[in-house]
Amino acid sequence: MATATKDLEKKIEALRDKIRHHEYRYYVLDDPEIADAEFDVLMNQLKKLETEHPALVTPDSPTQRVGGKAREGVLKARHSSPMLSLDNTYSQDELRNWERRVHELSGRTDIEYVCELKLDGMSLALHYEDGKLVRGITRGDGTTGEDVTPNVRTVRSIPLSISREKLKEAGIPATFEVRGEMLMPIAAFKKMNEEREQKGLSLFANPRNATAGTVRQLEPSITAQRRLDYFSYALLQNGRTYFERHWKTLSALDTAGFKVNPSRKLVKNFDEIWAFIEQEKTKREKLPYEIDGIVIKVDRTALQEELGYTGKAPRWAIAYKYAARSGITQIEDIIVQVGRTGKLTPVAVLKPVAIGGTTVSRATLHNMDEIERLGVKIGDWVEVERGGDVIPKVTRVVEDKDHPRGHKTFHMPERCPVCEGNVVRTEGEADHRCVNANCPAKLRETILHFASRGVMNIDGMGDALVNQLTERGMVKNVADIYGLTKKDLLSLERFADKSAQNILNEIENSKKLPLERVIYGLGIRFVGERTAQFLAEHFGSMDALMNAKEDELLEVDEVGPRIAQSIAEFFQEPKNRELIERLRKAGLTFAGKKKERGTKLVGKTFVLTGTLPHYSRDEAKKLIEDAGGKVTGSVSKKTDYVVAGDDAGSKLDKAKELGVKVIDEKGMGKLVSGSR
Ligand code: IVH
Repeated sequence: MATATKDLEKKIEALRDKIRHHEYRYYVLDDPEIADAEFDVLMNQLKKLETEHPALVTPDSPTQRVGGKAREGVLKARHSSPMLSLDNTYSQDELRNWERRVHELSGRTDIEYVCELKLDGMSLALHYEDGKLVRGITRGDGTTGEDVTPNVRTVRSIPLSISREKLKEAGIPATFEVRGEMLMPIAAFKKMNEEREQKGLSLFANPRNATAGTVRQLEPSITAQRRLDYFSYALLQNGRTYFERHWKTLSALDTAGFKVNPSRKLVKNFDEIWAFIEQEKTKREKLPYEIDGIVIKVDRTALQEELGYTGKAPRWAIAYKYAARSGITQIEDIIVQVGRTGKLTPVAVLKPVAIGGTTVSRATLHNMDEIERLGVKIGDWVEVERGGDVIPKVTRVVEDKDHPRGHKTFHMPERCPVCEGNVVRTEGEADHRCVNANCPAKLRETILHFASRGVMNIDGMGDALVNQLTERGMVKNVADIYGLTKKDLLSLERFADKSAQNILNEIENSKKLPLERVIYGLGIRFVGERTAQFLAEHFGSMDALMNAKEDELLEVDEVGPRIAQSIAEFFQEPKNRELIERLRKAGLTFAGKKKERGTKLVGKTFVLTGTLPHYSRDEAKKLIEDAGGKVTGSVSKKTDYVVAGDDAGSKLDKAKELGVKVIDEKGMGKLVSGSR
């Protein structure tokens, strides 16, 4: 028996190592060796083994990234030594002055420097004990930060544990601290904001704010959904720099499996520093994340210590900031754009201004709340900011003797500027919407969404084609796409036999895409990519979804009353049903693979309370539901089990009072795997 357990432990640990390796290849090196589906198979094997043997789950298992509990409040943590900021320079002269000062203070000129990108996120300290990640702390005021460990654990490029061999190879002690930058890649930022917009939530201004908001989230499962990344740039032991040279620190972190930014250089003089700055400037636009400059650091630790600090910043390092990607210009008008969901977005029409190499003549004002927050009027001079790939936005009103205030107040129109339909603002929501279901603007955006890469992936069906198709009345809904003929396409501008055939092939190929894409493509309000996936897995077919009642919809992961109502309403509308029948006839995928739920816990109702050692609330809920059980929020006579963790409160008392069976995580594991 004991040997059997040992063997099993070995098997599980070997599987974990394999998964860690593939996580490293994918998230750190960005160079996967296996397909995502193969990775999922490994992960599912591990999850299955761990569910069957909950006693063998360890905190550093790759399954435990989202295992942390929700924070109930802010937990402060002190840094081992202050986390400093950097002085900024904005010109070549200022930078030369800095170098001169380094020469003067050190009394030497043969100094080596390391140049790195200045990543635009938030700095964060990671503490490892015995090779295992034990704590993640935000910078805070530099002396004390926030303990955000459960959130940090969800970031796939941060190793949860590093083997002794790896640390030895890198020359890193078992207990150490890494400092670096947490950031949100631009694509993840855009996707998150799109989803928030669809759900009527407020938008984040830029990836940096989104990173900070996400890292400080109280619920780690939310952090896990938003893809954060982490680049390390410092290694400490007892609050002091560990290696003799910074260049060595970076390569050791790299060897140990941390993500270190590849754009770095060891240089010997000012010309080389400047060459690096110029070279990285040209690459900046193509980076998948935002940077705001270059950091130059004295390489030798001994010299760093000699140079010391001024107040909050080291003398041995400096940031060279690229010209701000913002500009000041005047608002000539505010117009309104209508989106797929009917949302009216106020857009500032600007006197064209060059910002970071592109001319900007429009900037979003998001909604009425934002206009009021900024206090902006037509005619005002404003600051406009442009992120890498982000839509330019107005950040503030500028007011001085050269920039007088504007006078014209903007009002949201009462009728849709495209179709003259009624515009409403639902109480509690920030957005105004056009309620006309047949609004042509909605149609245009609906078709564009349907054809976009993440949905039905009809390559070539972009702005130009969709404009023509909708304006000429050839496409009045998404089903019409499947009735298009070559003759139709040839009648349009800029279409020849070959390009028409390409589009038809793309349309044909889209029919093979899985059910979740079709569901997502329907454009049901609040149903994003993720929800569509859960719906497809839960119902397994378009028909089952179409006929689901609201209470059945509520059983789907992450579907709450608002989403359930929106879905039910969508399918009640006869016009929508008609549309779906046409899509069925066209041959789109209407059958999926229903995710099989177990039957062991059918008819059993659970209540979760307190903090479980290995599972978050969401994960425990999922385990029970996957086994056919139901999880509710409050204890009653109908409750079969209360699963109690640490610090369980009133729900536990209630269970005792009603005589409801109370079990712990292990007990839950046994029920789920059926060994009882
Ligand atoms: S070194 C004393 N290196 O910039 C050393 N910081 O303005 C201080 N940052 O709080 C940090 N990229 O959040 C360093 N390659 C890099 C960086 C970097 C971005 C951020 C960091 C820091 C801020 C200072």
